[in-house]
Amino acid sequence: MVGSLGRVTDPRRYIVRTYGCQMNEHDSERIAGLLEADGLVPVTSEADADVVVLNTCCIRENADNKLYGNLGHLKTWKGERDGRQIVVSGCLAQKDRDGVRGRAAYVDVVLGTHNVHRAAELVREAKENGPITEILDAAVVDAELVDGAMFPSALPAKRTSSYNAWVTIQIGCDNNCAFCIVPAVRGEEMSRPFADIVAEVESLAAAGVTEVTLLGQNVNSYGRDIQVAARRGGDASAALRPLFADLLKAVGSVGGIRRVRYTSPHPKDMRPETFAAMAATAAVCEQLHYPLQSGSDRVLSLMHRGYTAERFLQRLAEARRVVPDLAVSTDIIVGFPGETDDDFADTLAVAAEAKFDDAFTFIFSPRPGTEAASMTDEFVNPGVAGERFDRLRIVIERSSLAANTARIGRIEEVLVEGPSKRNPDVLSGRTRQHRLVHFAAPEPLRAGAYATVEIATAAPHHLTGRFVEQTAEAQHRVRIPVAVL
Ligand code: SF4
Ligand code: F3S
Repeated sequence: MVGSLGRVTDPRRYIVRTYGCQMNEHDSERIAGLLEADGLVPVTSEADADVVVLNTCCIRENADNKLYGNLGHLKTWKGERDGRQIVVSGCLAQKDRDGVRGRAAYVDVVLGTHNVHRAAELVREAKENGPITEILDAAVVDAELVDGAMFPSALPAKRTSSYNAWVTIQIGCDNNCAFCIVPAVRGEEMSRPFADIVAEVESLAAAGVTEVTLLGQNVNSYGRDIQVAARRGGDASAALRPLFADLLKAVGSVGGIRRVRYTSPHPKDMRPETFAAMAATAAVCEQLHYPLQSGSDRVLSLMHRGYTAERFLQRLAEARRVVPDLAVSTDIIVGFPGETDDDFADTLAVAAEAKFDDAFTFIFSPRPGTEAASMTDEFVNPGVAGERFDRLRIVIERSSLAANTARIGRIEEVLVEGPSKRNPDVLSGRTRQHRLVHFAAPEPLRAGAYATVEIATAAPHHLTGRFVEQTAEAQHRVRIPVAVL
């Protein structure tokens, strides 16, 4: 980079800290991509950075206390060198809006979930003209944006992995689960155009990506808004909306794509066509994340989930019948306001019957701004909720361990992720069912390679295996660092 006197100047350096879910992780990849397209370079510590981006989440209670605590430390960091900037983005920024700079006036840029595409411009504008808060109420559909730029996957990205990738198919959520802040901070459901999604997967495959995960809050209602908009526009053929099942088939047929995953579907919108497409499309993995939340019909109704426990179990049985060897994970909230011992017993019974391979279990915590947060008279005693949580964990670990133990002796193909985090002498990889396997290989395998392993031992959350053979080389090119002269 050349300064105004013709001298070579160092590029500005940035770091992004991400909180929350895959949506935010993917948004962070976009923010990083935009900053790099604008000439900034990444660093791994705040001490070396000129720009710190906090990409926030508000799903947990006390998220704001943590954010403002972090910002307190960054105030000192900012004062240590001229030109440093603090950016707050993501769901908590969307929720708190002007409140962010009300509590931390030294923040340079506040941007929300609907204008991630503006990240680099806002950083530049704030550097020249002073602090900016820019929060939009909804995603912009703007002809001047590059096609579909309100979808994070349509922006330049600095992807954290070179062999697998998130692909946004939908943003927002039209449901109103009583415990969830997401619709308030991510807006209405909006499906990304079918052709754009397939085109992105094709370009990822051309770059050596072999596994994609389709991302949305309610993926199996994909296309509903496209159909509604087309009908309003008088298009009678709009009865044939693109289904999520069609998308699975199209993405799974892209050359070079060996694995397709998706997250998250909503049990009330699960359709037989989706299971059929999973079974018919070889690249779609035998993995389903299927969020139960509660096994009590009374609690499910209080949560506004739109299904009963019986319906949930019926569809699960159907999924397992149509998709052989399907691994199923779930989310369950323990201690939702008003949950009685009987309600919890129903959850335990459904969890035992469902035999989940894995589960993310949470003790209810009120998220300000949600319906459940106002049900204060019904809050469950924390001691009782903690005890229920432990009992549920035992049931889940029993089924996880049984499912993992059943893999012993099988030959499974894994996608190599790299050295194990706990023991760098062994490699870690994921099976098609997303099970984590640790194994030793006679020679180093690059992350992104595929290998078969014979499963040797099982624990509730991982397997160990013996290397059999490499089945595919990593396809992506190694990034060669380019010096800036
Ligand atoms: Fe939240 Fe429910 Fe929408 Fe999922 S489906 S994002 S839990 S409101
Ligand atoms: Fe995700 Fe947290 Fe937002 S879970 S959608 S980053 S509130």
